[in-house]
Amino acid sequence: MRTDPSGRREEALQTGLLFVGKKGKDKMENYQITQWCRRFIREQVSEGDYCIDATCGNGHDTLLLCELAGRKGMTAGFDIQRQALEKTRERLKEAGVEERAELFGCGHEKMKEALAGSERCRGMLEKTEDGYGSVSCVVFNFGYLPGGSHDIATRAETSLEALRQGMDLLKKGGIISLCIYSGKDSGFEEKDAVMEYLKTLDSKKYLVIMSSYYNRPNHPPVPGLVIRL
Ligand SMILES: C[S@@+](CC[C@H](N)C(=O)[O-])C[C@H]1O[C@@H](n2cnc3c(N)ncnc32)[C@H](O)[C@@H]1O
Repeated sequence: MRTDPSGRREEALQTGLLFVGKKGKDKMENYQITQWCRRFIREQVSEGDYCIDATCGNGHDTLLLCELAGRKGMTAGFDIQRQALEKTRERLKEAGVEERAELFGCGHEKMKEALAGSERCRGMLEKTEDGYGSVSCVVFNFGYLPGGSHDIATRAETSLEALRQGMDLLKKGGIISLCIYSGKDSGFEEKDAVMEYLKTLDSKKYLVIMSSYYNRPNHPPVPGLVIRL
């Protein structure tokens, strides 16, 4: 097997940007989990929206959110690894949109606390009279940093806490996009905990739609959406 020291192939596989076709793009491109979720993110986020990338990683989703929310929007990004935040900052800078994001070097389980301490993001905590939040879209791409250490990854307990907080911040019609991994280095604890938790959500308040790569072997990733009703 060929090695992948730069982690680029691994990243491409996760992000769905792996082109293996002879000329141009692999037909599978749009069916990678992140691309699948991005369809919904694109449909959801519009100019001026508040967005959160709960796991910045290499910054692909943070960039997408910044682009979709435009100059008037604001995106908060979280990651516990400096390497990830640096990569994300670089990506935003290259695209000329770094002003549209605030990046936090803390765990997403401290999401609300971090937002409260930021002048530019405090508005994300605002509630309507009937209890809805202000955020249009929260993105969770669980797991480890492609190209980074597989030992530093999202964990069941902190992921559940972050999910709870993220859901509470959603405006009416707001969404949470989920990319959930299991098997190999990821194990099953986080996936099982997240799936169990989502099942318990009040169906009058949240609609949960989970997709599956139904005929794919070896613990395929699970894309999901939570919609605030
Ligand atoms: C699969 S990557 C995210 C990929 C990213 N969405 C992208 O577009 O490149 C998962 C990231 O979650 C981060 N992470 C792990 N635990 C975290 C936590 N408690 N809070 C925030 N980020 C965390 C990891 O450092 C890693 O960079």
